Formats: sequence, structure tokens, C-alpha cells
Amino acid sequence: MTEPVAGFSKFSKEEKIEWLSNRYLNNDKEATKVLKQYWNEDYKLQQLHDEFTENTISNFYLPFGLAPNFLINGKLLAIPMAIEESSVIAAASKAAKFWGTRGGFKAEVLNMNKIGQVHFIYNGDSGKLQRFFETLKPQLLKAVKPITKNMEKRGGGVLGIKLRDKTADLKNYYQLHCNFDTRDSMGANFINSCLEKFAEVLQNEAQKFADFTAEEKDIEILMSILSNYVPECIVRAEVSCPLDELSDDPEMDGQEFADKFLRAIRIAEIEKYRAVTHNKGIMNGVDAVVLATGNDFRAVEAGIHAYAAKDGEYTSLTHATVENGIFRFWMEIPLALGTVGGLTSLHPLVKLALQILQTPSAEDLMKIVAVAGLAQNFAAVKSLITTGIQQGHMKMHLMNILNQQQATPQEKEIIVDYFRNNTVTHSSVIAQLEKIRQQ
Ligand code: MEV
Repeated sequence: MTEPVAGFSKFSKEEKIEWLSNRYLNNDKEATKVLKQYWNEDYKLQQLHDEFTENTISNFYLPFGLAPNFLINGKLLAIPMAIEESSVIAAASKAAKFWGTRGGFKAEVLNMNKIGQVHFIYNGDSGKLQRFFETLKPQLLKAVKPITKNMEKRGGGVLGIKLRDKTADLKNYYQLHCNFDTRDSMGANFINSCLEKFAEVLQNEAQKFADFTAEEKDIEILMSILSNYVPECIVRAEVSCPLDELSDDPEMDGQEFADKFLRAIRIAEIEKYRAVTHNKGIMNGVDAVVLATGNDFRAVEAGIHAYAAKDGEYTSLTHATVENGIFRFWMEIPLALGTVGGLTSLHPLVKLALQILQTPSAEDLMKIVAVAGLAQNFAAVKSLITTGIQQGHMKMHLMNILNQQQATPQEKEIIVDYFRNNTVTHSSVIAQLEKIRQQ
């Protein structure tokens, strides 16, 4: 067995690659070339990317695409999306165009309340802890003033602190459950800094609280961390139109389309195998915009899926009704996003994405992201209940295969034409290409 590497993070980039090549890539010159070919020749830009994270040896590109024609609350936007999956941007653009002629998307932020918790162990009388907490609360708020001062100027800050008794679930376990408004920043650093300060003050003040016994004074802080579950930071996106405007398919009227659509949504509401895939389609749109705008898509994913299971069963995030001849399709999701701080002022493409979106506030961005998710879901369900999903996917897949095979523009044209009425499979595309090449 080979020895673990020591001091890897201290190696230069060249040394890291050399070590990697030696240890795992049989000194393959091609592999090293691949890594280096993604380096940016602009030294400063490369250094910026290197420093976003640790042990950077190269860059990992994702396509940065644009879905135009999104009419959101009367404003026409082009939405930047960072995503590798084919069909997603095409589907978003199609849905945008469809709803653009039917009143567009309506979006509204319902609340913007984020949560963080100090988890601690207190071995003693809970009534006494509650009394201590009442005296502690103003001290907690005072102690974080240096952190919250600027946030308060922007209209945010600490909204509330509650003591929660969780001893029924875990022996001696309590929490400071705190609410924050972080305005245009995602707020992770702000919240975590406040929480760590709360924890410090809690521990110190407990030592001084006269009513506590020696054991009660010894509060053990377990952890202080924001929650990525933000069920009070909700945005709603919606589309609606009269039934007779709903179908753009000459073979299906609005009523039939709505019947099928509503049943498809109902299935996602009651059947979790479908719900997960259904919601995954929503996340295709959500993540792509979240990523393009430099936000934390892992946090968003975790929070949204937890929200989808908030009533005890994992279910659809979108819902649809037909009432008085009006088709309505909507979604409410939790989104903790930022348009200042973090990558937003550092990553050139993120800055550009925000510029494309006309410098949105966090609230504006929440609306845009929710609309992208709703549009994605509409497009996916529309395809599923009409042509099936593979038609669009395979068209894109066809292009990928042709590019892999280095097909010429003429070859592409002939083959795309052929597959208009034939089923795309990897082998059938290769066979067709070979046939043309032999001719
Ligand atoms: C594929 O990335 C997403 C879909 O599976 C979503 C859905 O089934 O609703 C098409």
C-alpha cells in the first residue's frame, strides 16, 4: 500500500498535478494536458478561480445558456442558466414563449425569514432555564450589535430568539431557535456569526446566573449553525389562462389538455416515486439559475426537498386547478438566495448573470428562480402527457452523438432529417452515419 500524501494543500498547482499524475494516472501526459487545457490564460482570472476553493488543479466548465422571453410580473427577462443537461434550456424557453402570450408569470415573495439554531445541553430545571433566558435575551441582542449594525441599516437583522425545550426527543437538549432577515444577502456568514456569538454569551452568562446550581451553570454548546430549511422564506410563482387558450396542439383542446395535466400533477401529489422525478424537473430550472447567479444550490436543494415532505409525505411542489374555466398552475418553494456577498461580486460570469437579470434584489431573484422552476415543470409535464419526453431529449442526444462522431454540417443535416421520423438510438445513429460515409 502507498503512503497517504502529507502537506498536499501546500504543494503548488504544478506539484499537485505532478503528484496526481504519478500516483493515479501512470504519468499519462494526455491527462495532464486535459487538466491544463482548462486553465485560463488570464493569470488573474485563473487565480481568482483557484482561490474560490482549495486544492484547485483545473476548472470544470458548465455551459452557460440563456432562456429568453420570460414575462415575469409584466417585465420581460432573459434568464441565464448554468446546466449541462440537454433540453432544459430549450424547455424553459419554450414554456416562457408559451406563457408569454398568455399573460406571463406572476411571482410573489410571501416572507423572507431565515433560521439558525444554537444546540446545547443543559442539565437542570427547565423552568429555571426559561427564567434565565428571559434575562439573557436582551444581552444576546446587544452582544451581536457590531455584527447586525449594517444589516439593520439595510432593513434586516435578528427577528427573534426563542428558547426551545427538546428534552422529549433527546435528554437535556435545548435550542436557541433564531429568526433572521438577511435582506439581499444569502446570509449564511451573518447568521452563523450571530449564532456563535449567542452561544458564547449563553455559556458565559449561565456561569453568572445566581439561581443555577454548579451543574446547571455548565451549559454545553454542541453546535451553532444556520438551517437550510427555510419554510418561512417562501416565493410563489403562478401562471393561469382561460381553458380555451390553453392548448397549442391542434389535436387536443384546452379541456383535454387540462384534464391530462391535472391528473399528472395529482399523480405527483399522491405518488412519491413520481413526485421525486417531477420535483427533479423543477430543480432543473431552479438549480441552473441558482448556479448561474452564484448561489448555493446544495442549500437550495436540501431546503426545497425537505419542504416537499413538510406534511409527513414527500409530494409535488407544483399544483394545478381548473375553476370557472380558468386553468391555474402554481408552486410555492422556500428559497434562501443572495444577490450581494459571496460569489456575486467576485465571479465574472455570476456578475454578468446578475447584470443580465437587471441587478435583481434577493426578492427579485427568488421570483425569477421560482418562475424558472415552474416553467421547467410545465414544459416537462406538457411533453410527458403529449409527445413523451424522449422526442425532445433524443433530438439533443442525436446532436451529442453526431458531435462525438465529428459529423460534418452536411452529415448532420441529412441525419437530423432522417431521424425526424425514425427513433434515435446510439446504434441507429452510428449506422446511419456509416451508411452516408460509405456512399
Ligand atoms: C429530466 O431531467 C426531468 C424530467 O424527468 C422531469 C419530469 O419527469 O417531470 C423530464
